[in-house]
Amino acid sequence: MNSTTNLNESFIKVRGKRFHYIWLRDNCLNPKSRNPDTFQRIYDYTENPQPKPLYVELNEEELIIDWDEKPSHRSIYPISWLLKYAYDPEPKQICNEPKLVLWDRFWFDKHPIERHDIHSCPQLLWMDELCALGFTLLSNMSIEEMESFLTKSIGPINATFEIVSDVKPTPDAKDLGNLMIGPEVLPHNAHNYKLSKFLMLFFYCVEHNAKGGESILVDSFRVCEDFRQKYPEYFKILSETPIVFHKFDPQNNYYFSDTAPIIQLDTQGNIYRICFNEKNCERTIPFEKIESFYEAYSIFYHYMKNPAYQYRFRLNDGDCLLIHNVRVMHGRTAFDPRSGIRHLKAGFVDWDYFTARRNFYQSKHLYLS
Ligand SMILES: [Fe+2]
Repeated sequence: MNSTTNLNESFIKVRGKRFHYIWLRDNCLNPKSRNPDTFQRIYDYTENPQPKPLYVELNEEELIIDWDEKPSHRSIYPISWLLKYAYDPEPKQICNEPKLVLWDRFWFDKHPIERHDIHSCPQLLWMDELCALGFTLLSNMSIEEMESFLTKSIGPINATFEIVSDVKPTPDAKDLGNLMIGPEVLPHNAHNYKLSKFLMLFFYCVEHNAKGGESILVDSFRVCEDFRQKYPEYFKILSETPIVFHKFDPQNNYYFSDTAPIIQLDTQGNIYRICFNEKNCERTIPFEKIESFYEAYSIFYHYMKNPAYQYRFRLNDGDCLLIHNVRVMHGRTAFDPRSGIRHLKAGFVDWDYFTARRNFYQSKHLYLS
């Protein structure tokens, strides 16, 4: 037994951190307490709410405890594991997200964006960039690789009617972006009429040799912070007034509709989601509020259209742009379909899969030896 250990106390100190015996017994890593294949808990602490240690050994590598139980039970905790899960005085986050970097056009003058070759770039590098900036740009992907790369690197491509849809001039277009005239598409985010999901949006460039058609990205979190600073009353209106986002789909017999404020805040007042899509929203709100809402919306929309907030670049054949859809708006400049081809593939992966895959890389050493 370690000389500093007092078995009469309710906790033990390991490298300056206190751990309660009840917590230690509850979090025992022994296969009888936790299934080693599924990593799920088997032990029910409520059957033994006051576990008593009989023997404790604390060495450089491990904490070993024999419990006063029948049959006898030994728990072994690697010190590194304990320190990772220490909760004295507060639990730490096991998986860390990179700090958000809010950007505008000028930010890229000092921080030019690199395309990441999918065959050589470490996965966590582009994943961290996608977290920090809200987008990342991959390159050198063949069309045959596209689906398997996204599925294996992140997760299943979201099942919509077309799993991956084409973005190109199309007769009988079902979206403004596919009109035969190649019109400008102003910044927006996708699928606001299906609010239950956070999505990662991808655009894969099959071929692009038309004149124009530059991609446009806007960091709506950057816009919102500036908007909040300069127009606090309008910010309040857009964060407190729900509007309707909808899509009428006669091809598949659906009418999707959902209601939410454009700017969504957490309980601390931090922005966590923006719903902004001029194509698919209805400003149907109470009579008394409508004029002030139009004023606030108009100023907000001018921020989105302001080139100072827009990062513009050209997608090349084999590029794949990944976007955190609730943060970064996407759009494009107009192009002339008579001058050449602009053909993209677009689709979604649940953001939860992206986060879970990234967290897996961060935490696997705690589970897998
Ligand atoms: Fe879109």
